Amino acid sequence: MRYGLDFGTSNSSMSFNDGEEVVMIPLESSGERLTLPSAWFFDDEQKICHIGRSAIRKLGSGTRGRYMQSIKRFIGDKSIEGTNVNGKFMTFKDIIGALISDVKHTADQFVGQDVRSVRIGMPFKFSSSGSNELALERIAGAAHDAGFEEVDFMLEPLAATYALKSSVTSRSKVLTLDIGGGTTDLSVVELYPEGQNEDRVLYSSGVVVGGDDFTSEIMRNKLLHYFGYGSMIKTGPETLIPFPSNLITGITHWYSALRLARDKTFRNSLSSVKHMAVDKEKIEALEAIIYGKQGVKLFEAVEIAKKELSDDPDTAILFSFEQVDIYEILRRTEFEQFISPHVDKINDAILDVKRQTGIDDVDYVMLVGGSSQIPLFRRVLNSHFSSAELVENNQVTSVAYGLSHAEYQV
Ligand SMILES: Nc1ncnc2c1ncn2[C@@H]1O[C@H](COP(=O)(O)OP(=O)(O)OP(=O)(O)O)[C@@H](O)[C@H]1O
Ligand SMILES: [Mg+2]
Repeated sequence: MRYGLDFGTSNSSMSFNDGEEVVMIPLESSGERLTLPSAWFFDDEQKICHIGRSAIRKLGSGTRGRYMQSIKRFIGDKSIEGTNVNGKFMTFKDIIGALISDVKHTADQFVGQDVRSVRIGMPFKFSSSGSNELALERIAGAAHDAGFEEVDFMLEPLAATYALKSSVTSRSKVLTLDIGGGTTDLSVVELYPEGQNEDRVLYSSGVVVGGDDFTSEIMRNKLLHYFGYGSMIKTGPETLIPFPSNLITGITHWYSALRLARDKTFRNSLSSVKHMAVDKEKIEALEAIIYGKQGVKLFEAVEIAKKELSDDPDTAILFSFEQVDIYEILRRTEFEQFISPHVDKINDAILDVKRQTGIDDVDYVMLVGGSSQIPLFRRVLNSHFSSAELVENNQVTSVAYGLSHAEYQV
C-alpha cells in the first residue's frame, strides 16, 4: 500500500487507495477533518512537538516553546540548514520529519498497517531563490526518517488533474490551476476516460505566489498605520522626520514578526527612536505585537477577513491584544488592487501556457487550492478560456486524492 501526501505550505492531507477507490484519511484526531494545518509547536516545557491545530492552540496558551508554519517556502534555501529550537539545533529535515511522523502515525492507525511507501506532492518551484533539488532531498530524507522506505514525488497540479479522471467521458484538455498558501502551480493534461489511451502531460509551470502573499498585502496596505507607519519622530525642537518604516514592516509577515522578538539590533534601534516618536502609543502597539508574540495571531485575524471576502463584498478585520485594538473595514475591490502585482504574475503564467502550447481554449479548467476561492481568479480564467467548463470541487483535498489515483506513475 502507498500513501499520497500533500505536504502543503498551509495545510497537509493524505490519502490511500484501498484497491477499489481512493480514500482520504482524517488527519486530525479531533473530528473528521481531512486537512491538518502545516504548523509545529515545539513545547519547551513538555519537550514534545505538537502538530496541526494542537500546535496553534499551544501557541495561544502561553506555553513556552517555538512555533512554526509555512516552512515549505524556505526548505530549498541553501543558506539555512535549520534553526535553534528550545536550545537544540534542528535541521529542516528534522522539522519536516516531525510532521511526516505525526501524519504517518495517524494514517497507519487508520488503515491498520505500517505503510512504508509514500508519494508526495511537489510544487513546480518551491521558492524564487532556493533549490528544488535541495527541498526534495530534505523532504525525502524526512520521509525516510519517519519510516518510509519508498518515496517519490509528483507535481501537485498533475495530481489534482487526475482527481478528475473518473469524470471525463471523452478525450479532454484540462488546465489545472492550483493557488495555495505558498505557490501557484499550473498544468495542462490531455486526459482520457479510464481504460483508454495514456494521458499526455502537455505543460507544467508555477510561480511563487500564494495566499501568504495576499494576506501580507492586506497587512501592508491596511494595518501598518496602527503601528506607527507614516507617523513622525521629533529629532529637534523644530524637526520632524518620518518614523523609520523598516522598523515596522517586519510585522507584515508572521515569521519576521517572530524573528524580530529575538533580534537584539532591532530591539536597540526601536528603543533608541521610540522616545522621539510623536505617536508613542503606536510604537507601544508595535512592541506589544512583537514582544507579546502576537504576529501569528494578527496574521490569522487578517486571514479570516481575507477568506470572508471570497463570499462577501466587504468585511472587517478585528483584532485586540492589550492596548492594540483593530477594527478596519476591508473591501473586496481594494483587496483586488492590493494583490494585483501577484495576480499579474499568475496571469502571465497563463499567457505562457497559451504561448508555449499553442492552445487557445481547453475543455475543463480545474481550480484547486484554498486561494482559488478568491472570486477574481474565476474572472481571470474566464477571460482566457471562455468555453471551458469550470470544475471547483474539493479545492483543498484534490491534490492528495489524485496522488493516490491507482493508474498513475510519475
Ligand atoms: N475562502 C478563501 N478565500 C481566500 N483564500 C482562502 C480561502 N480559504 C483558504 N484560503 C487561503 O488558501 C491558502 C491555503 O490553501 P491550500 O491549503 O490549498 O494551500 P497549501 O496546499 O497548504 O499550499 P501550497 O500548495 O502553496 O504549498 C491560505 O493562504 C488561505 O488563507
Ligand atoms: Mg497545495
